[in-house]
Amino acid sequence: MRHIQTFLFLALTLLLQHAASLQLNVTAIGARDGASTIECWQLEQPFDISTDPGTSGSAVAMLSSAANMSYTVLPSNYDGGLHNGPHKQWVVFTTGLAYITLPDDNSTSAYVTGGQFGLLFVADTADVSQKGHRTQYPGITETVALQIPTCDGRIPEHTVLHMGPCNVDEISGLRGLAAGGKGSDST
Ligand SMILES: *[C@@H]1O[C@H](CO)[C@@H](O)[C@H](O)[C@H]1NC(C)=O
Ligand SMILES: *[C@@H]1O[C@H](CO)[C@@H](O)[C@H](O)[C@H]1NC(C)=O
Ligand SMILES: *[C@@H]1O[C@H](CO)[C@@H](O)[C@H](O)[C@H]1NC(C)=O
Repeated sequence: MRHIQTFLFLALTLLLQHAASLQLNVTAIGARDGASTIECWQLEQPFDISTDPGTSGSAVAMLSSAANMSYTVLPSNYDGGLHNGPHKQWVVFTTGLAYITLPDDNSTSAYVTGGQFGLLFVADTADVSQKGHRTQYPGITETVALQIPTCDGRIPEHTVLHMGPCNVDEISGLRGLAAGGKGSDST
């Protein structure tokens, strides 16, 4: 019994050390030279270990301050058309499917599925991109999006990993964290 506890403790400690150096990568709609782009960003702020009640011991990354938040339900096969991001904002797709394309660059596009990997940052506001981007919702269900503009139009500190959306390897680092279980506050 003791051995198992020691093992679990060590495993958790390793996991948490891993979490503390892990950074979130997120697909972003940016802009360069007046045109929207699709980029993979690595957020500067690494995961930390939460000490908040209810999530204590879990991995948590502070994303940014938020101005407000809205909940949008898009019907299946909806076409959002060509548009600029209304604000510098996070979009969290909780369900459904979004397909993002650029008007003058057919070489790249992004599918964002709702759920665990449904996080996107949108920065192509009208002041930096002339035409914006097009978002379609080709899923067979509705798509639900939480839109969360940042305070004062701030863009989170990040480095650009590459052009184009983040790939599976760049977002699946989250999976290892899920094994963290219930945390270590019961002793
Ligand atoms: C939400 O925040 C954005 C960005 O600050 C602001 O422009 C917008 O008016 C706000 N919307 C509401 C309904 O408060
Ligand atoms: C991209 O594809 C669309 C539709 O297939 C086409 O109308 C448009 O001219 C293409 N744009 C470029 C820059 O190739
Ligand atoms: C982000 O990308 C880096 C480098 O490709 C990778 O090591 C890391 O695991 C990724 N983070 C997540 C949360 O997947």
